[in-house]
Amino acid sequence: MSTARSVPAHLASLADSLRATNLRHLFADDPQRATALSRTLHLGDAELLIDFSKQHLTAEVVDALLAEARAAGVSALRADMVAGRAINGTEGRAVTHMAMRAANESTATDELRTEAATHDLLMRSAVDAVSSDFTHVVNIGIGGSDLGPALLCDALASMRSKVREVRFVSNIDPVDLERALDGLRPEHTVFVVCSKSFGTIETLANARRAIDWLVSGGVSQPAKHVIAVTAQPERVTSSGLTVGRVLTMPESVGGRYSVSSAVSVAAALAFGCDVFDEVRAGMRLMDEHFVKAPEGDNVAMLLGLIWWWNATILGYSSVAVVPYSRVLALLPSYLQQLIMESNGKSVDRDGIPVPTSSPVVWGGLGTNAQHAFFQLLHQGTHVVPCDFVGHSVSLGSSQADHDTLMANMFAQSQALAIGVTEGEVGGDVHLQVHRATPGNRPSTTLLFSTFTPCALGALIALYEHATFVQGAMWNVNSFDQWGVELGKKLADRLSTDITREPADMNGTPVNQLDGSTARLMQQHRRWHSEP
Ligand code: F6P
Repeated sequence: MSTARSVPAHLASLADSLRATNLRHLFADDPQRATALSRTLHLGDAELLIDFSKQHLTAEVVDALLAEARAAGVSALRADMVAGRAINGTEGRAVTHMAMRAANESTATDELRTEAATHDLLMRSAVDAVSSDFTHVVNIGIGGSDLGPALLCDALASMRSKVREVRFVSNIDPVDLERALDGLRPEHTVFVVCSKSFGTIETLANARRAIDWLVSGGVSQPAKHVIAVTAQPERVTSSGLTVGRVLTMPESVGGRYSVSSAVSVAAALAFGCDVFDEVRAGMRLMDEHFVKAPEGDNVAMLLGLIWWWNATILGYSSVAVVPYSRVLALLPSYLQQLIMESNGKSVDRDGIPVPTSSPVVWGGLGTNAQHAFFQLLHQGTHVVPCDFVGHSVSLGSSQADHDTLMANMFAQSQALAIGVTEGEVGGDVHLQVHRATPGNRPSTTLLFSTFTPCALGALIALYEHATFVQGAMWNVNSFDQWGVELGKKLADRLSTDITREPADMNGTPVNQLDGSTARLMQQHRRWHSEP
């Protein structure tokens, strides 16, 4: 039986030599370390400094990782993606999210760009057709049909003026829709029902209730208030939902990679197509960088390889993403889906078990996170690499307070890397052991000059490509998500039986359920039927 590609011995031995030292010594020994292990990039109206020097790395490790990426065929897979070859093997699909914002052949073929332009035209004409009487947009969607447009809208709100207010509904919990509709007037509300598959139960149930709300609110032509976005337009018809316009996206754009497609029409409705175009321009700049930049300067390649190195060679099983910018509050949730749904796999493209794949991605907004989970980051028994993201120019009215925010971001990465010894802590000798922090905890800092829609797009594309690089290194298919299917199927079956007495259950005889699930169902039935 074949096995997954093993970790080269020289990478393991480089890791051993790093374990024998620490970041404090590495910085002390090499005054050029910060410069050697960081890269800068011009991104239209913003610049990015990406500093890897607080990672457990040396220039030698970077060279070894780049050599490993060559051996793993990362560039060849990237070329296959650009060429529109079916690199999503288990679904027999190409992977074409770059075509959604491509300007030339370097990141998508002519054919893919022509197809993308057709979908884009539909979206633009839908946005133009929504009259200014519609003051509120409610996006109904989940996963990639929620997280991407929600991130855009939340971030853009402090960068550009809004044409319309926008709200998001994702959960089938009825409270979610009810809260989103609170205070809205049906005659002024337009819904975007966003579902690539148009088969997601949460989205269809919420869409039905939203249309009922329009009708019961006196709207005589509800279709005028409902736009659908999907890769399966025929399912819009068979769903029986009252929909006025159907926007389309290619099947080859994965849900979690769909933020630059019509899936983000809510952002275009809220801020205008021009602003959405600015985001896509930033994505395009990062795409071109990823495809063309020399490997040693390629920040997407380096970011992906460092995540891979931390997870695979150093054994760090989670990563905390900590944006120090209110506008990026939703970035950790967005990246959770992007990275974990892409690379949370146990077998490679050939079905061979892989010993390691995606780390657990989590995080939260700085400085709030400092007052919540940073204790564990500094002194806990887990080593959790962090990605810090911030920008120098404030998007708010006080640059001074923003400077304090940035000082906190720099202080956290410094404290994590350098720590403080018992001797340095001083004070009560009995407390020194409690107050010392070990340091040597790795992080990357992404510092933008200013944060613009273009920078936002570039940041999102950077993580898309870093995710691609990691998947290529593990040789997993980053574009399928079979693991979510079983839960959906079981939920379908249990939904049928959840209010029935065991004797009436059609779907799943009670004796086919495990004891815990049977008991939970029974208890729920009892409580649900009691007033
Ligand atoms: O939960 C799995 C998933 O298929 C995601 O990949 C996707 O983004 C989400 O559900 C929503 O899917 P859809 O856009 O088809 O409703």
